[in-house]
Amino acid sequence: MEIERVFTGIPGFDELVNGGIPKRNIVLIAGGPGTGKTIFAMQYIYNGLVRGEPGIYVALEEHPVQVRINMAQLGWDPKRFEEQGKFAVIDAFTGGFGEAAKRERYVVKSVDDVQTLLDVLRTAIKDLNASRVVVDSVTTLYITKPVIARSVVLQLKKLLSGIGCTSLLVSQVSITERGFGGPGVEHAVDGIIRLDLDEIDGRLYRSIIIWKMRGTSHSMSRHPFEITNKGIQIYPKQTLKVYRQQVSPSEIGGGTDE
Ligand SMILES: Nc1ncnc2c1ncn2[C@@H]1O[C@H](COP(=O)(O)OP(=O)(O)O)[C@@H](O)[C@H]1O
Ligand SMILES: [Mg+2]
Repeated sequence: MEIERVFTGIPGFDELVNGGIPKRNIVLIAGGPGTGKTIFAMQYIYNGLVRGEPGIYVALEEHPVQVRINMAQLGWDPKRFEEQGKFAVIDAFTGGFGEAAKRERYVVKSVDDVQTLLDVLRTAIKDLNASRVVVDSVTTLYITKPVIARSVVLQLKKLLSGIGCTSLLVSQVSITERGFGGPGVEHAVDGIIRLDLDEIDGRLYRSIIIWKMRGTSHSMSRHPFEITNKGIQIYPKQTLKVYRQQVSPSEIGGGTDE
């Protein structure tokens, strides 16, 4: 049986996963600071909006006003979709403080209150009939309490997958870390996309590798990509070889750099 797929519309990406992310998958988008996780997530949401698929952006790292500005700067102004009730930002950043925050429709006052976050998210998904969800970043929900990481991700998965959404969970890892966000999290998700930034001969190179994607075959290679003022462009026919320096054990498994 042909599975249903969600076309990300990110140039070059859908080819890497045989046409799109399998519907209802919860996909970790992991990488160090500045690797393009947020831009990838915004592009995924916006491409859904123009295809008539409502989307929700859970903002845990940045002010919701800044999220809208950043999207608009890349040519993805979400304003009209927000006015039409097709796009929403969930403010899990301001704690409800400030004039701008008072105008937000969906607010979660404390990131420690995962239950409220899930309730607000469920309400927003139903209001919008949303099919794409981004949580940027999921790391913020458990950075101070790694023991709850797996449980938080499993609760998100139960809600998002159960309701029919296809979701990206942004996961912050430190510059030297080779992992994706901790063992509990990595095993709980349906997919893992890793974005990297590597210095080769004094220049930084961007690359993407798909580590895991349930329900489909996918590229097993590392592919170069670029970020321009139009967003992410992946080169699926090219591969990038990265010979990483040996990382000493003390550098493995650190926190995040953001
Ligand atoms: N208009 C642009 N043109 C080229 N590169 C850009 C542009 N805007 C942002 N970038 C690159 O994207 C990076 C930020 O990407 P972002 O998705 O915010 O990273 P992350 O969320 O992984 O920390 C910047 O450090 C910069 O290198
Ligand atoms: Mg980011």
